[in-house]
Amino acid sequence: MNLHDALRLGRERLAAGGVPVPERDAALLLGHATGLPRTVLRAEPGREIGPAEEARFLDAVRLRAARRPMSQILGVKEFRSRDFRVTADVLAPRPETEALVEEALRAVAGRAGARVAEAGVGSGALVVSIAADAPDAFVCGSDVSGAALCVAAENVRTHGAGGRVVLRRGDLWAPLADLGPFDVMLSNPPYVRRIEAGEVDPEVLWEPACAVFCDGEPSDLYARIAAEARPLLAPGGVLLLELPGPESAPVIAALRVVAGYADPFVRADLAGHPRVAVLRR
Ligand SMILES: C[S@@+](CC[C@H](N)C(=O)[O-])C[C@H]1O[C@@H](n2cnc3c(N)ncnc32)[C@H](O)[C@@H]1O
Repeated sequence: MNLHDALRLGRERLAAGGVPVPERDAALLLGHATGLPRTVLRAEPGREIGPAEEARFLDAVRLRAARRPMSQILGVKEFRSRDFRVTADVLAPRPETEALVEEALRAVAGRAGARVAEAGVGSGALVVSIAADAPDAFVCGSDVSGAALCVAAENVRTHGAGGRVVLRRGDLWAPLADLGPFDVMLSNPPYVRRIEAGEVDPEVLWEPACAVFCDGEPSDLYARIAAEARPLLAPGGVLLLELPGPESAPVIAALRVVAGYADPFVRADLAGHPRVAVLRR
C-alpha cells in the first residue's frame, strides 16, 4: 500500500466511524505508524509502506474509528507546550485546564518556597507544569487511582521534576495533610453526573470513569473539596478549582456558602464560560 492509498482508506474508515475530522486524524495516525513527517506524507503519495507499518496504521485506524481518543492511541498529549504520556488510566489534559495552572503560577509568584497541593493529579500534567515553571515551589498531589499515579510518576520523571513533586494515593487532601499548610491548593474534579453519560462525546467514555464522572451532584463534591481544603490552607492561601463551564452556576452557588473563604472570584474562559473559581482563605 502506498501513502496515498493508506490516507484514503484511513479517512474513509474514520469518517464511517463518525470521527469529526477524519483527514487530520488519518494523517496523524499514518505519521505515527510510519514515523514519517507530515511533509513526506504530502509530498510523496506514491511511497510504499512496509507490512508492519501498514498493520500498525490499520490497527490505529480501527481504534480511532471506535472513537478511542487520539491521545490514547498516540500515547501523548501536549499541555502548555510539554508532551505528557497518556494512557487509558488517565484523563488527557485539556487546553482549558491551562487556565488553572496559570492561576496557580500567579498565586505562587513572589512567594519564595511556596507549597502547592493538587487533589486528583491524573496524568500529572498540572503538578509537572507548576513544578517546572515555579522551580522554587514544593509541589504534591494525590489521586484515588494507583494506575493514574504510575502515569503521573512517569511524567514527573520524564520532565525532571522528581526531586520536588510528591505523589500519594488516597482521597482528596487526606494523603497530603502532613505536607501542609499550603499556599495554593488546586483541583480539577470529575464533574459529569453519571446520568449524563449518554450525552458526552464517545471519546470521553474511553477515559477513566473516576476521572470523568462524580457520584451524586458535582456541587456536593466541590463543596466537600473546599471544606476539606480550608484547614490545610496557610493564611492568605488560595484554593483554585476548575469549573464545569456553562453548567457552573450550582457549583459556584455551593462554593459561596462554604465557611472560611472570601466570596469566590470566577475567571471565565475564552468562550466566556466560568472556568476557574479562586477561593481565598
Ligand atoms: C478530571 S481528572 C483531572 C486530572 C488532571 N488533574 C487534569 O486536570 O488533567 C480528575 C482526577 O481526580 C481523580 N479523583 C477522582 N476522585 C478523587 C478523590 N476522591 N480523591 C483523589 N483523586 C480523585 C481521578 O482519578 C482523576 O485522575
